[in-house]
Order: sequence, then structure tokens, then C-alpha cells
Amino acid sequence: MAAATTRRRVTANGELQENGGGAGQRPTNGTRRRPSAAGSGGSTPLWRVAVFASVALNVATLALLLHHYAISHPWRQSPAPAVASPPPDACVLSGKSEARQEEVTKDRASAAMSPSTGKPTVRTDSVINLDHGDPTVFEAFWRETGALAEIVIPGWQTMSYFSDVGNVCWFLEPEFGRQVRRLHRTVRNAAAGDEYHVVVGTGSTQLFMAALYALSPSGSGDPISIVSTAPYYSSYPAVTDFLRSGLFRWAGDANSFKGDEYIELVCSPNNPDGALRDAVLRSEAGKTVHDLAYYWPQYTPITAEAAHDIMLFTVSKSTGHAGTRIGWALVKDREVAKRMTKFVELNTIGVSKDSQMRAAKVLSAVSDGYDMGSGSRHRHRLFDFGRRKMVERWAMLRAAAAASGIFSLPEETSGHCSFSNDTAANNPAFAWLRCDREDVEDCAGFLRGHKILTRSGSQFGADPRYVRVSMLDRDDAYGIFVTRLASLK
Ligand SMILES: Cc1ncc(COP(=O)(O)O)c(C=O)c1O
Ligand SMILES: *[C@@H]1O[C@H](CO)[C@@H](O)[C@H](O)[C@H]1NC(C)=O
Repeated sequence: MAAATTRRRVTANGELQENGGGAGQRPTNGTRRRPSAAGSGGSTPLWRVAVFASVALNVATLALLLHHYAISHPWRQSPAPAVASPPPDACVLSGKSEARQEEVTKDRASAAMSPSTGKPTVRTDSVINLDHGDPTVFEAFWRETGALAEIVIPGWQTMSYFSDVGNVCWFLEPEFGRQVRRLHRTVRNAAAGDEYHVVVGTGSTQLFMAALYALSPSGSGDPISIVSTAPYYSSYPAVTDFLRSGLFRWAGDANSFKGDEYIELVCSPNNPDGALRDAVLRSEAGKTVHDLAYYWPQYTPITAEAAHDIMLFTVSKSTGHAGTRIGWALVKDREVAKRMTKFVELNTIGVSKDSQMRAAKVLSAVSDGYDMGSGSRHRHRLFDFGRRKMVERWAMLRAAAAASGIFSLPEETSGHCSFSNDTAANNPAFAWLRCDREDVEDCAGFLRGHKILTRSGSQFGADPRYVRVSMLDRDDAYGIFVTRLASLK
């Protein structure tokens, strides 16, 4: 599963150009160029015919894609009501001050427990913020699941600090642990049997810190080096160093590291470039942490059941529930699991039980969708929805980049997915976009000038001609982004 980072640029007249990336490496073992778009069932949509039948990708193609996108996604036009619709007794309020009306509306809203919706709605001339990987693309799926993904928590429940006092991870809600193992059994993306401990965290970000704490040598020597192959997830250096720990310190690109004591972070598929990765360092004393946040069928073919010592996952990327702040670690070694648990105890004395209950319900709804025994629930299949979305968005992005002519993207790779039992493309959650225009040295700055916010390659230990663009935003923002990108010359 070596990183295949050959970059292919399709010019406006359909020619291919190879450049940069992994020095012309070809995709290897189990990844190959996808012969045709593999969707997840159903009839061939219009846009796909448009993309793959046309030799010359151009602006017209993109317009067609966008047109279909608009008509096939009615929810774009109707954002969820953030506040309950006008109260039935609204007429009573007429004549009263606007401030009073607002107050009443607010009361209603809080009575209905309407939470915030995240980023504001966008218009064609808005600033489009694709800097963070906010996974709101999945909202459309969860709007349809109704009671299957709802929970009610009475006032007296989840009050104790404790969840499972006999367990290594004493604050793990047993139902959350069960649903984690069940989902991995369903997807077969990672081993999660009795040989693994489940440690829950406030997002996988907390578990990342817990893993560094647990793997650092306990002696009083120098801080241990934390490394990852560039381009690496920008949070790794930031989170490693923000408290200037005496236990560990960021040491940069794993490829240029010399020594045999280290902790290597392996993110696969990789944030920011989507590459499939293995550890690059090997030594007796070296340790590895596998961040598998994106090893789910909507993003990449599931080619093997991962069985590493420490594997990190999160609901942020698997189901889209970033705001629930729940992640989990599968940990082989009992002592390491204990130390990770200790970190979470020192840091936050456990993890929200309310969030764990919600996450358990959400994971259970996902597994139910693929459980042959659960009858009518089959119409709610998260990974089918997610993969369809990602395939569609990547087609739109490639058409936009081709129409523009000044951007290149990583080449598409594919492999056999054991979960869907077909050939699936790698559809990363981020686009690692390169500005090819000679006079543009700061791609993020260039895009910002066109009101598109992205994260500069420099934050990932890479060239600022690259940017990372989130592929997980809502349909409206994503549509405006690709239209605008296509128009840049
Ligand atoms: C590779 C990777 N790991 C971890 C995280 C953080 O996940 P969480 O929201 O669970 O803290 C992210 C979020 O962007 C990520 O990309
Ligand atoms: C996977 O697909 C192949 C070919 O379509 C089929 O022969 C095989 O039975 C399928 N396997 C499973 C487990 O469904």
C-alpha cells in the first residue's frame, strides 16, 4: 500500500500531463487506475455520462454537472429551519416591539433545543471556507434517519463520573464499546475483537495526545521525537508542541529522521493528500500510531483488516458527527491502554457520557443499515450515500480543474473493496490541490483573493504551491467552490 502520489493534470483540451508528487511513482499493490467510474448501484447518472463520454473536458461539462447537482439535491434550496417556524400564536404578537418578538422566538427555539447549525449559509458571492474538514456533507443523510439515530436522556441519567469500573478504560460506556466493535465487524476495516482494548476520547485529537503520553519513555531523558511523513496532518506538530512537553517534541518529516527512538504517526488514507501509507521507519525502540480516521468505505476501498498496535478512529470522519467530539482507540497492549486512560483521566476526568450514548446510537444506525436481519432499515446506508457523494464531488472537482487549466490534483487510484465487493476509487476527504501558474507561489493566498479559504501546503510541511481543500462541506458551498475554481485562469 505504498503512497501513489503521481499527479495527473488534464488540460482543457483533454491532454494528460504528469508532474511532481512522488517522483513519478506508479500506484502499486492493489491500487490501479480505475477503468471507469464505479458508483454504488443505481442507474448511471447524467453527470457521469457527461464526464466519461466527453474527451474534451471543458466549462460546458462542468455547467452540466452543476445543473444536475442542483436539481438532484433539493435540500440545497431549503436550509434546515434553525429556529422553529413562526409560533401558532404569532398574531398575538403583532403590534408588540420587535425585540419582544425576538425574545419569544428565542424562547421557542430553546424549548425545542435547536442547536447552532455551524457555518452560515452561502450565496454565489460569499467567502467559501474550506479550510477545516467540517463534515457537514453528511447532514443530508442524517436528516433522513429520524428515530433510528435519536436518543433521549432523562434528567437523572449519565450523572456519575463512572461508566465501567471493572474495565481498563473505566469511563467507557459499555454500549459505545459494543457498537464500536460491531461497526468494525460490519466494515472489516480494523480488527476489534477481544485482543483489543477500546479507549474512548474527546475526539481522536485527545487520543492522539494520550498515545504520545502513553508511548513516551518514563525516564528523565530528552523528549522523544514525534515524526510523520510529509505532507502530514497540520495538527500533529501543533498538538505535539503547544504545551512544550518535556516528554515528547515534534521532529518533522519521518523520511529525514535519524535515530531509533521515535514515535511515528501514520495517517492512512493521509490527511492532506489522501495517499495510502505505511510506516517508513523501523527499529526495535520505535513506536507507531496509526491514525485511521479516513479508513472508511466512503473515502477509500477497504483492502485489508488493519491490525496495528494503536489505531485511532473518530465519528467526525466516519459518520460526520464532529460536534459530538467522540473518538476511539483500538489498543493491543493492556499497559498502553491503561496509560492512555490515565491521560484522559488527568486531562478531562473521562469523556462525556451523553456524547458516548449519542455516538453509540449513531454507530448502531450505521451498522443496522448493513445488517441483513434488520428489514426495512436497509434504505439508510451511510457508506453508500457517502461514496456516491464523494465520487460525484471528485468528478466535479476534476472537471473544474480541467476547465480552469491552472490546477493539478493527485491521480485517482482504486482497488478492490472487501466491504462493497467491487472496485472502488480512492475519494479523499481533502483535495491536495496544486496551483500550476508560474507566477503563483502562494496558492492559499491566490485562492483567498478569490474568496476561497483553504489551508496552505506550508502547514503540512510542504510547498505553499499546494493547498488542502475540504471535500466535506455542504452541497451549496461545494457547488459555489467548483464553479469559482473553474473560472480561474
Ligand atoms: C487525520 C485526522 N485525525 C484526527 C482528526 C481529529 O478528529 P477529532 O474530530 O475526532 O478530534 C482529524 C480531523 O480533521 C484528522 O484529519
Ligand atoms: C463478490 O462479487 C463476485 C463477482 O461479482 C461474486 O462472484 C462473489 O460471490 C461476491 N462475493 C460476495 C461475498 O458477495
